Formats: sequence, structure tokens, C-alpha cells
Amino acid sequence: MNYPTLFSEGQLGTLRLRNRTLVSSLTRASATEKGLVTDQMRGYYRDFARGGWGAILSEAIYIDEKYSQGYAYQPGLANEEQTESWASLVEGVHSEGGLMIAQLFHGGAVNQGNAWVQGSIAPSAVRPKGEQIGRYRGSGGLFQTPREITPDEISETINAFIEAGRRARAAGFDGIELHGANGYLPDQFLTTYTNLRTDEYGGSLQNRFRFHVKTLAALREALPGFLVGVRISQTKVNDLDYVWPGGEQDASAIFPALEAAGADYIHVAAHLGVTPVFGTEHSLSGLAKKYTSLPVIANGKLHEPEVAEQALRQGQGDFCSIGKGALADPAWPLKVQVGESPTPFGVDMISPYATLDNYYSWTSANLGHR
Ligand SMILES: Cc1cc2nc3c(=O)[nH]c(=O)nc-3n(C[C@H](O)[C@H](O)[C@H](O)COP(=O)(O)O)c2cc1C
Repeated sequence: MNYPTLFSEGQLGTLRLRNRTLVSSLTRASATEKGLVTDQMRGYYRDFARGGWGAILSEAIYIDEKYSQGYAYQPGLANEEQTESWASLVEGVHSEGGLMIAQLFHGGAVNQGNAWVQGSIAPSAVRPKGEQIGRYRGSGGLFQTPREITPDEISETINAFIEAGRRARAAGFDGIELHGANGYLPDQFLTTYTNLRTDEYGGSLQNRFRFHVKTLAALREALPGFLVGVRISQTKVNDLDYVWPGGEQDASAIFPALEAAGADYIHVAAHLGVTPVFGTEHSLSGLAKKYTSLPVIANGKLHEPEVAEQALRQGQGDFCSIGKGALADPAWPLKVQVGESPTPFGVDMISPYATLDNYYSWTSANLGHR
């Protein structure tokens, strides 16, 4: 058998996965203006289910009709209509034997397209670094400066995560993942330069981490028996260099706190891959394993099956999530298992836009299908 570890069954919280591969979340900005799922998206996710992945993580889904949406044409789980539109998509995935986890998202200050409200909110009124992201249909230029979120709005936002979690379950998803990574609202709390608060959500690491912990605990309590995972990272879509200032000491506090809050798994986002961090011998996902007993999903540059197999064998994680490699070839697991080479990723697949229209024109021009 090719890659026996990668293709062994595994337990992710309540879910039994047929193998250790997951589609990593991929924002495609291809829903309707009001955040409804389209038939094109139904076909796109169904292809992953047919492709033999252990589970599929959805693209980032916004949670309320307020400030959570970050990108134009992003899908939502903020109302009944959106929930119903997901239900038929998830049914399609299930009918092909797939499992699907909804990634719940609040953009906070990183908001370049919102159909519901003007302005943005964040832990502090700090303009995000960098420029709006063109591939997610940013209209160009700097991000707007957010308004500081009030304590009442923090509670409302945690409630919005709970409501969206309930809608995800009603839509038939097999679990949810709190998007606590990559520079969006929860990560803006964790990051020193975007959190200048002096209340219980700012200052010490424990305070900066409170939003993750409270939200996870609230989701855990509201959704007993339902898979609740969390994604976490150091770097951000708009800052690829940020490092947790306390190094391994931060990791040794953060990961156990996620476990104590009731997370069923930890999913690390790491665009550089499973390389050692903080001068240790461990990758960030390896440290999540070191400091918890939870299943850990490693990520980053794991599209070469030898590398993914090795990462699992070395204890960098229990599962591997694959982003660009999955985008390039939805049948990656099936092909790899039988020794075929999957279609490699090329940046033209997501340029100028990461949309499905762009992707399907690329595949029809270059691969002669769709
Ligand atoms: C087009 C695109 C969209 C992405 N959208 C999301 C997203 O919605 N949520 C998320 O957590 N990560 C997102 N990511 C990050 C990926 O999930 C993954 O962590 C990253 O691409 C590194 O993994 P890879 O080397 O296998 O591509 C996105 C990446 C790409 C390229």
C-alpha cells in the first residue's frame, strides 16, 4: 500500500475518517452577493467528496448579518436561507461518502467586502497591515480603520458563533471549526499589535487569548456531541512574518487552554509547512501535539505525499490538511493512493481571482474539462 500512515483510518473527535487527508479551507468568494451557496459550489465540493479525502473543511463562512463578513461573495451561515442553501451542498457531499466541517469566520478588521453593514470592528482601532487582497476581490488600497469592539458586542459575537454553529448542525455539517487563525477577529485579539485593550481581553497572553477560549467553551456547551475544532496560526493573510512573542512558552499556554476549553482537535495553519519553530525541534503542529492529547491537523506544503507521510510518522500531526494541492486536484487522495501524479498547483488557478469561475476557465483551457 502506498503511504500507509496517510491512508490509515483515523479518529477526529466524534468522526471516523477513512484516511488522514483533509481539504484545507479555501476561500473562493463565489457565493451570491447575499452569501448563498450556488450550484457551482455544490459541484466543486462534491468533487472533493468523490476524490477520496478523509474530510473536507469548508471555506471560511461568516456568522452574522453584521460585521463578520470579510469578503464580497463569501458564503454565510447567518440566516435560514443561507443554512438551507448549505444543506443541499452537504447532502451532495454525504451522498458521495464525504464528511464536511464548516469553518466559522469573523473577519474583524480584515473586512474588504460586507453586504450587511458599513465599517468594521476589531479589538482595537488599528488599521490592518498591508493592502486589500485582490484575489478575494478587494477593491484595492488600504483596509479601513476599524472601530473598537465593545464588551457587549464581544458577547453578541460569541452568541453569533453559537447561532452559526447551530445552523451548521441543522444544515447537516459533520462538525465546525472556529477560525481562530490567519489574522481574523480571534487572531486579532491574540496578536499584540492589533490588540491594545486594557480590559480583560487585552494585555497578558491569557487576556489576549480569552476570546478563543470563551468562544470555544460556548460552542462546546451549546453543541454537545457535535465536533468542535479550532484553527490557529502565527502568521496572517496580511502579515506572513508574525511570531508568537513568547515563543514556546506561548505555545505551552495556548494549546492546553484550547483543550481545556473543549476543542475536539487543533488545526494549525502554517504556510511555511511543518518546519521547526522557536528554535525547538518541533513544528507548531508538533508543539500542539506535545502540549495536548488532542488530535492535531498539520498543514502547509504537504502536497507531496512523501512529505505528508513523513510528517505524520515524525509526529508533526495526526492528520494533514492540504490547501493548494487540493485546489489543483480534487482527486488528490485517490490518485496518490494508486501511484498517479495529481495535477500540480499553479498560481494562475487563483489569479487574478481565487473564484470558481476563474478556476473552471483555467481547467477548461489547460486540462480540457469543465
Ligand atoms: C485561495 C486560498 C484560499 C484560502 N482560504 C482559507 C480560508 O478560507 N480559511 C483558512 O483557514 N485558510 C485559508 N487558506 C489557507 C489554506 O487553508 C492553507 O492553510 C494554506 O494554503 C497552506 O496550505 P498549503 O500549503 O497546503 O496550500 C486559503 C489559501 C488559499 C491559497
